[in-house]
Amino acid sequence: MSDPHDYDVVVVGSGAAGLTTALGLAARFRVVVLAKGGVSEGSTAWAQGGIAAVLEPGDTIESHVEDTMIAGGGLNDRATVTYVAEHAASAIDRLADLGVPFNVGEQVGERFHLTREGGHSHRRIAHVDDATGWAVQDALAKAAAAHPNITLATGHAVVDLITERHVDTARFVARACHGVYAFDTATRRVERYTGRAVVLATGGASRVYQFSTNPDGSTGDGIAMAWRAGCRVSNMEFNQFHPTCLYHPRVKNFLITEAMRGEGGRLLLPDGTRFMASYDERMELAPRDVVARAIDAEIKRLGLSHVRLDMTHLGADFIIHHFPMIHARLVELGIDCTTQSIPVVPAAHYTCGGVLVDIAGRTDLPGLYAVGEVSQSGLHGANRLASNSILECLVFGVAVADDIAAAWDMLPAPPRTRAWDESRVTDSDEEVVVSHNWAELRRFMWDYVGIVRSTKRLERAAHRVKTLRKEVHDYYSDFRVTPDLIELRNLVQVADLIVRSARRRHESRGLHYSLDYPATDAIPRDTILDPWTRD
Ligand code: FAD
Ligand code: SIN
Repeated sequence: MSDPHDYDVVVVGSGAAGLTTALGLAARFRVVVLAKGGVSEGSTAWAQGGIAAVLEPGDTIESHVEDTMIAGGGLNDRATVTYVAEHAASAIDRLADLGVPFNVGEQVGERFHLTREGGHSHRRIAHVDDATGWAVQDALAKAAAAHPNITLATGHAVVDLITERHVDTARFVARACHGVYAFDTATRRVERYTGRAVVLATGGASRVYQFSTNPDGSTGDGIAMAWRAGCRVSNMEFNQFHPTCLYHPRVKNFLITEAMRGEGGRLLLPDGTRFMASYDERMELAPRDVVARAIDAEIKRLGLSHVRLDMTHLGADFIIHHFPMIHARLVELGIDCTTQSIPVVPAAHYTCGGVLVDIAGRTDLPGLYAVGEVSQSGLHGANRLASNSILECLVFGVAVADDIAAAWDMLPAPPRTRAWDESRVTDSDEEVVVSHNWAELRRFMWDYVGIVRSTKRLERAAHRVKTLRKEVHDYYSDFRVTPDLIELRNLVQVADLIVRSARRRHESRGLHYSLDYPATDAIPRDTILDPWTRD
């Protein structure tokens, strides 16, 4: 097939969100799923703890909703939270039907073993040992690969959305999304993939920070592309730092699951003091923002490089049975967590904000949807509750597929669009600019826009972002795109959105903590940035 590649629906991203959406559409539509790396290179495959759902007798939807709203600092949209909590059990059933081997309960007839994580008032987390994400990704990827209506196009980095601006006509055309321009890493050409609907499922942006639990590809591409195409983005200041990432000289982004604290793990200072009691009565099971800030405060107060997570009191059998993957990986690194505590630090983990969507995943641009970590659906508010993320991908993936099917006759067939134009660019002779700017960006985002913020630090960050944006823009205008340049351009855009959002919030709430505005406003308000208005 030659450029443009025409499908019914173009899905960008092959994690839980993209594949759930594609599988939901494939009975009726021809779907292409584009992924910039391999099919399982997103965050989904790395998820450890599990998926939250009301499955325990005695637990209720209301309780899941309340826990989500408490963790989210009340900024969540209650209707969205309720919708997701109500659809959680059926989402787990669908995965089980696809072959995800969830751990079964220890009592006879108990369908799921449920673990516990911070902020949950019940055992609510269905899981596959401590490697749930891999099992989910594997099952979805196999189902998608086997479906005759789904084409998996790996090694395709989407550069930008095709909108009315790219329609090949002199006449006025209405705002809409018609497809994407994608860089094929095999041919090194940029080609068009068009459809009546485009679904962004590109994951989060946590790699905008120097230290992160995320894979390399979490560079906020979908958020930046949607913004450039004229969509509003929301709540970008709420960047979740997971309290316990392994602190190790060689391994920078290995998560130590929250389920370890859920099952009784204790956070300790180097002298063995358990410190969480000074911060929150829920101790190690307080929501993530509270625990991450407490660790950060202790690290700064005592000049430490890390704190420690101790599991040893739970016994070797328990640890190896519940956390086989983490135990084995730590042994490879010379740490036996059955006899030694684990060195840990907070690291950037999850992007709560994103492309603003409604309950059907619709963005501001007709024909464009966003689902999963790329979106801001109202579920997470100011701080995501543990194990609510894959859940969001599963529930909204179905909602988006249903909405596209329902709207199909109203969605315009793709018009004639312009091919990618490379006539004014050359091959780069200064790749060092990309790597240097990349490192600088991540460092200052970590130092100035991290767990604890201040007006002055945010001003410094804004100044740095402005300079970098100009440099990256000039570079992008002069040279052919490469995967690194595509990501850097998006990271700088996302950094700008984060800093602008953080500067607008004159209070502390959830993950946004400002030394200059420590109080929380009585009325929670979303931060909404609109590309059509200047501010
Ligand atoms: P991803 O799974 O990140 O997939 C993004 C996809 O988009 C990838 O295929 C990527 O290649 C593609 N992509 C991105 N940009 C482009 C582009 N420009 N062009 C083409 N393709 C592109 N959540 C939970 O609920 N429970 C957990 O236990 C849990 N544990 C976690 C542990 C770790 C270590 C991490 C990092 C996250 C964890 N999370 C957990 C969060 C959760 O895994 C993610 O939020 C979720 O999987 C995101 O799914 P997604 O489909 O939105 O994005
Ligand atoms: C974890 O296992 O700690 C991660 C869970 C999550 O991010 O929801």
